[in-house]
Amino acid sequence: MMGHRKQGVIRLLGILFAVVSILIVIGCKQGAVSEKPPIHFNPNMDSQERYDAQAASRFFADGMVNRMPVKGTVALSEGYEDTEFYFGKTADGKVLKKAPVPFTAEVLKRGQKRFNIYCAPCHGRTGNAKGIVVNRGFLPPPDFHTDKVRNYPDGHIFDVISNGFRNMPSYKHQIPVADRWKIVAYVRALQRSQNASAQDVPEEKRAKLALEK
Ligand code: HEC
Repeated sequence: MMGHRKQGVIRLLGILFAVVSILIVIGCKQGAVSEKPPIHFNPNMDSQERYDAQAASRFFADGMVNRMPVKGTVALSEGYEDTEFYFGKTADGKVLKKAPVPFTAEVLKRGQKRFNIYCAPCHGRTGNAKGIVVNRGFLPPPDFHTDKVRNYPDGHIFDVISNGFRNMPSYKHQIPVADRWKIVAYVRALQRSQNASAQDVPEEKRAKLALEK
């Protein structure tokens, strides 16, 4: 037989258990708003000493929290004043007809290398739109030897490389600006190579050409 005392203790424990359970359930209620900071058993670096923007500072001599940029700082958006070179457009936004770099033999050589790496897989080494990727089912790009593409201004081809065009991805992250112009130069050379006439051959070399035919 249990004594009255023992029964009383068990009842008390039961009530205590019920109250604690209810508190736990209420305490876990989702979305409960509290003004107090949460209890952090292991705060790590969650909260640190810091300044609020525009606040006063006792540390800096000028009493301001906000610091001015260090002398010589260049913003990401600065340094692109040469819009022709960086964007293929005049300062007032017109697409350049002619590339702002000379098409020297050296430029063309570099352009050829870059073209064969970055463009030929789709456009083909001659620009005939029969690259290996297209053979495997990628949407065919336009043939570079159509009047349409031949008549594009240099700045447009630069823009297509930089920003992509409909189904063609952008290559601005892979190809530096200077190389993009070299590729433009090489595309121009490819186009001339497929649309050349005897008039394009220097006078003194035409006879030799006929001999080799
Ligand atoms: C992954 C395949 C692929 C690669 C690589 C690629 N192109 Fe293209 N390109 C296309 C496709 C597809 C189109 C047609 C896009 C459309 O009309 O939807 C296109 C279109 C173009 C056009 C015509 C844009 C117009 O306004 O009609 C030019 C010029 C061009 N590409 C140049 C290049 C050059 C230069 C490179 C190398 C830097 C290059 N492409 C790399 C697939 C590619």
